[in-house]
Amino acid sequence: MEGSGERIFGTFFRRPVGGGTYAEYVTVPATNALAPLPQDLDPAVAAALPTAGMTALQLVESLGTAQSVLIVGASGGVGSFAVQIARAAGKRVIPIGRGDSLAEADALIDLVSADRSSFEANARYAPLAFNTNYVSADPAQNFGLKGSRELLVRLASMVQSGDLEVPIGRRVPLREATDVFAGHGPGKTVIIM
Ligand SMILES: NC(=O)c1ccc[n+]([C@@H]2O[C@H](COP(=O)([O-])OP(=O)(O)OC[C@H]3O[C@@H](n4cnc5c(N)ncnc54)[C@H](OP(=O)(O)O)[C@@H]3O)[C@@H](O)[C@H]2O)c1
Repeated sequence: MEGSGERIFGTFFRRPVGGGTYAEYVTVPATNALAPLPQDLDPAVAAALPTAGMTALQLVESLGTAQSVLIVGASGGVGSFAVQIARAAGKRVIPIGRGDSLAEADALIDLVSADRSSFEANARYAPLAFNTNYVSADPAQNFGLKGSRELLVRLASMVQSGDLEVPIGRRVPLREATDVFAGHGPGKTVIIM
C-alpha cells in the first residue's frame, strides 16, 4: 500500500477510482476485500486466490454438516478450489466434469448451469443445492460471494499450510496481457507487473 509500505492482496468489488487495474498504482475504496500479503506467499499465487478462492471457501461453508458433495464444474477456477477445501473439511467429494453422470449426495455445488431447468435437473440429486449463476427460483439456492478480509486471511493460511494448492498455468508479462484474452489452458493466468 503506497505510503504505509504494506503489501496487500485482494479483489475489487467496489470499482477502482479512475481507470481499470492494469496499472502500477490504483486507488480503490478501502471497503474492498483486501488483506495483508504474508511475507512468504508468492504474490502471483495471492493474485490467483481472491475471487475463486473466497467463492469456493464460502460455498463449502454453506454446506454445513453435509458429508458428501457433488461439484459440477470441478475442474474450473472455483471448482478446483472447492474440491480441495471440501476434502480438507472431511467431505466426500464427487467431482463432475463434462459428460459425467450425477449420483445422489448430501449436497450439490453447481458452477455450470446457465438456466433454471438445467440446475433443477442437477438439484434433484441432493437435498441441499447451490448454483453460482443465479438461475434458481429459490433465492436461497443462488449463491453470491460476500468477500472479506477474513476469508482472504484464511485462504492465505491454507496455502501456507499446504492445504490449498493454487494451479498457476501461465505467468504473463504486462506487455503481453492482451494475449490473455485469446483464451488459455488449464490453471490460472496471472499478469506480472
Ligand atoms: N455468484 C458468485 O458469487 C460467483 C463467484 C465466482 C464465480 N461465479 C460464476 O461461477 C461459474 C464458475 O466460475 P469459474 O471461475 O470456476 O469458471 P471456469 O474456470 O470457466 O470453470 C468452469 C468449469 O466448468 C466446466 N464445465 C463446463 N461445462 C460443463 C458441463 N456441462 N459439465 C461439467 N463441467 C462443465 C468447465 O470445463 P471445460 O474447461 O471443459 O470447459 C470448467 O472446468 C461462472 O459462471 C462464474 O461466473 C459466480
